Amino acid sequence: MQKVLPDTASSRDGRLQLGSLDVVELAERFGTPLILLDRATFETRAKSYAAVLDPDRVFYAGKALCCVAVCQMIDALGLGLDVCSGGELETARRAGFPMERVICHGNNKSLDELDAARDLGVGRIVVDSFEEIARLEGVKATSKLLVRVTPGVEAHTHEFIQTGQEDSKFGFTLAEDIALEAIRRASRLPSAPLVGVHAHIGSQIFELAAFDLAVKALAGFLRRAKDELRFEAAELNLGGGLGIAHTKDEPVLDPAAAATSILQAVNREFTAQGLAIPAVSVEPGRSLVGPSAVTVYGVGTVKSIPGVRTYVAVDGGMSDNIRPALYGARYESFLANRMEAAATRAVTVCGKHCESGDVLIKDAELPEDVAEGDLLCIPATGAYTYSMASNYNRLARPPIVLLQEGEAIEIVARESLDHLLALDRRLDGSPL
Ligand code: LLP
Repeated sequence: MQKVLPDTASSRDGRLQLGSLDVVELAERFGTPLILLDRATFETRAKSYAAVLDPDRVFYAGKALCCVAVCQMIDALGLGLDVCSGGELETARRAGFPMERVICHGNNKSLDELDAARDLGVGRIVVDSFEEIARLEGVKATSKLLVRVTPGVEAHTHEFIQTGQEDSKFGFTLAEDIALEAIRRASRLPSAPLVGVHAHIGSQIFELAAFDLAVKALAGFLRRAKDELRFEAAELNLGGGLGIAHTKDEPVLDPAAAATSILQAVNREFTAQGLAIPAVSVEPGRSLVGPSAVTVYGVGTVKSIPGVRTYVAVDGGMSDNIRPALYGARYESFLANRMEAAATRAVTVCGKHCESGDVLIKDAELPEDVAEGDLLCIPATGAYTYSMASNYNRLARPPIVLLQEGEAIEIVARESLDHLLALDRRLDGSPL
């Protein structure tokens, strides 16, 4: 279990300790479900990237978990921030995040979002479509621009495939010179300088060779851009995607080793093409925040269906972690209040939503006597859980508590019933 837990995890009297704090006490204090974010793990992983790349070339992908305090932590580390909506940009602004270290993404950025990016002076915008090039001309953006290309490598988890033309709503395909045309048009924008290209080949990637292939395709493409358009990329952004272990049978990858391997690929392929070596950036999301957090639920109903299965129901579910239902994502679990109890009972951990698909872990192993009042912990839930949370069945979203040096700070409060109903109006349109 240690493998998927934050670095500061230990057990005392059978109770999970995180960041020198007792998780049972934290659950009593903050209630459940509860997301605990370990600052030390987060910073260690961020520093691992920053040991190889300049910190401001590491853009934390806010989509993994975006809130004001996380933006402040990223700022304190000197990292950059990748935002992909006006809401994420506003979060960065309210966090006082330095806008020159922000990079704006999005396959359909609105005029309002581009206006905001211009007004706030964001450092970089990643251009994603021909329409956006026209919009950028209209808004007179002055940010540095990168053109997002799809290099024909699709990587997801343990596999990657190479296709001539990627089927993606993002970026410009290298096929039929579409990306070349994007470079031509973007480089003519009068106020915003085109400085490079961007590619993001997928998420939860374990095969670093997928990045090598993407770099090779990009170097070949940039050779043509130089020959035909006299465009030379000063910057190359390779997106995010490094995989993490959610379960004990998945590998643990080292961010520094991955970044080193990417830099080596860039040196090799750009040298082979006779091109100057660009400044390399990455956009890790999951690999920074994913392993840094756990979710703690209260166990409620335990229902055994003889000869079929046992359902262990917790006080959250698909509204705070949609990943198992949406992607078939797998997680581990254990009881945070009695870690030493032997896990011998095969159960299905489900949520409390009115939906059969509300299953968090299909084949979990828990102690034989798991019962109401136990605390069930699911590790590696920092990324794409809270950020994808919903209020399905009008469940309130859990709080996020940051653990640092023996202190617990609520950085996102628990939603209350008042929050849930804040936007409701009566039939006549009047507020409640
Ligand atoms: N940069 C760009 C342009 C991206 O689209 C993404 C993720 C990242 C960086 C960060 O990728 P990461 O390092 O986190 O893998 N909801 C899915 C993951 C969607 C990823 C979307 N883009 C999940 O829960 O698995």
